[in-house]
Amino acid sequence: MPSDNQSGIESILHENRTFAPAAEFAARSHVGSADARDAMRKRAQDDPDGFWSEVAEELDWFTPWSQTLEWKAPDAKWFVGATTNLCHNCVDRQVAAGFGDQTAIIWEGEPVEDGAPEIRNLTYADLQRETSRFANALKSLGVSRGDIVTIYMPMVPELAIAMLACARIGAPHSIIFGGFSASAIADRVHDASSKVLITADGGWRRGGIVPLKDNVDKACKKNDSLDHVVVLKRCENDITWHAEPSTEHGGKRDHWWSDLVDNASDDCPCEHMDSEDLLFVLYTSGTTGKPKGIMHTTGGYMVHTYLTSKITFDLRPDDDQVYWCTADIGWITGHSYIIYGVLPNRVPSIMYEGAPNFPEADRFWDIVARHKVTQFYTAPTAIRAFMKWGDEHPQKHDLSSLRVLGTVGEPINPEAWMWYHRVIGSECCPIVDTWWQTETGGHMITPMPGATDAKPGSCTLPFPGVDAVIVNDKGEEQPANTGGLLAIRKPWPSMLRGILGDRQRFIDTYWSTIRNADGEPYYFAGDGARRDEDGYFWIMGRVDDVINVSGHRLGTMEVESALVSHDSVVESAVVGMPHEIKGTGIAAFCTLAPGHAPDDALRGALRDHVAKEIGAIAKPDMIRFTDALPKTRSGKIMRRLLRDIAEGRESVGDTTTLEDYTVLAKIRESDEG
Ligand code: WTA
Repeated sequence: MPSDNQSGIESILHENRTFAPAAEFAARSHVGSADARDAMRKRAQDDPDGFWSEVAEELDWFTPWSQTLEWKAPDAKWFVGATTNLCHNCVDRQVAAGFGDQTAIIWEGEPVEDGAPEIRNLTYADLQRETSRFANALKSLGVSRGDIVTIYMPMVPELAIAMLACARIGAPHSIIFGGFSASAIADRVHDASSKVLITADGGWRRGGIVPLKDNVDKACKKNDSLDHVVVLKRCENDITWHAEPSTEHGGKRDHWWSDLVDNASDDCPCEHMDSEDLLFVLYTSGTTGKPKGIMHTTGGYMVHTYLTSKITFDLRPDDDQVYWCTADIGWITGHSYIIYGVLPNRVPSIMYEGAPNFPEADRFWDIVARHKVTQFYTAPTAIRAFMKWGDEHPQKHDLSSLRVLGTVGEPINPEAWMWYHRVIGSECCPIVDTWWQTETGGHMITPMPGATDAKPGSCTLPFPGVDAVIVNDKGEEQPANTGGLLAIRKPWPSMLRGILGDRQRFIDTYWSTIRNADGEPYYFAGDGARRDEDGYFWIMGRVDDVINVSGHRLGTMEVESALVSHDSVVESAVVGMPHEIKGTGIAAFCTLAPGHAPDDALRGALRDHVAKEIGAIAKPDMIRFTDALPKTRSGKIMRRLLRDIAEGRESVGDTTTLEDYTVLAKIRESDEG
């Protein structure tokens, strides 16, 4: 990669370029011109109820709605009074329409034997049968409508089956990313009061086995709500088995997935769910405290993810498309854009189990070529890693099937955008840079591939029906090219409905920061951004204490709590720092208790400790030992200074409120690790 200076200059040059969709592409896409797009946006703005109702009518409902939206900030109800089922719309609806034999999910396992990975194709009819059987299995364990089921699984088809089975019977799921640790599982199971947890003996990752069941066993020791653990056999991994409820494991017992399913009927009608019934909870990091359970409900989420999948990726069911989103289902991107938004569009969705560089650095391109992927959706951090690994890996494969490329999770630097465009997209695939969040449920600001001119590094324009603005802290809209806070003024169908069990935190986090002149609250996204003279949005990054590490969201406070839970650390502060591949890396400053040597052995131990407390994604990239942390007179840690130090910049800011100037000097001199 070019040096920092050079890349900085290149980035600026690229930022000023515009890329229009090819006429041939536009002619075949759902929205094929800027005029058509603007008309759609105007319609959604002038008549949101009519706009969203028309979209909703493309899907199946058991009972129609009496009102499209009931809004009393911050509470939205979409498709009021209607009933539907999202598993029905993903699966049964396709079977009923005569498409039972079409492929819904193409799964590829990580291990490769004799040059060939294991591949499984699941049709809509397969999914109907398997989700019904597993739904009946869940019922046999006492799960009923409204019970939250926790899922901690590798990226295997049974994960999709489990989540859809939950939706089928109206049991909201809480999916935990397989990279999280036992403590993280324990917290989430407890918060959701789950009685049933679904896991696997292990999952393949970069040639090794992730010991999922072991992690669950460790988590169980601390938990009191769980009664049953369902275990899928994936890796023939040695595990401890609890055939009977044992007090040592809090009275839980284990069941093999296969035993439960073998005895289950394949007849299980979809529950009629109210549009506002809880569909799932997904935990995500915030500024304070433990991760919060973001609640999404059924009808609005279904409609929003269906439409954005269709328009943003230009999904068309009868056009030999194969769509691949590389995210893990444990994150919102996987929920919305591997399963819930994609299956109703009847385009096959790929699920890949493992790492992008196993067995070699060309694995993703191998998959694209093998399955003739037409839409490819990944994170900037992956793109930067591919750039570093070298062009020869994609160049070994035929990528000519690709039509649309997408990115999500963090700002994409224009240089990485250009590489994606040139090397992966052969300069002819539109790139959709999609801005959204766990809380927004679906895409909020994004190009339409056949209609929107792209500018590298900008997520371009709000999706129809999304009223995004840049404001100052008084809620006043900012002029072009002035940085401010990103806010959403009007409700949208897939918006979060709350934080599980914490109404006040929901209000405080999202609905208290920004108000208009009439005192009406706007949704506060936590991101800083600007809008350029064409109305394009440029996301500048989080303005709170959330950091985006490799596109994964973490709260700096979570990492700090993990560090101080180690015997050696009395105080710690964590900030983000620029990282070539991850986008943001983690810098930790730790003050040690007497008697602990500030050496590399301790650094290693602390990194392992954080991995154990949260997960490997939270391991600090740099740990510095300090005598004390720089604080204001009122005792607040001066994070700005720490950020400057982590970035290797001399601090130019105002330090007059600094309690102890010498602290700063000592940090600067301390060893970097
Ligand atoms: C960031 C992921 C710039 C942003 C779907 C947001 C982005 C956070 C983009 C949400 C993008 C997501 N450009 N930044 N295209 N997409 N972000 O909840 O800071 O894991 O607030 O949802 O990721 O992360 P989350």
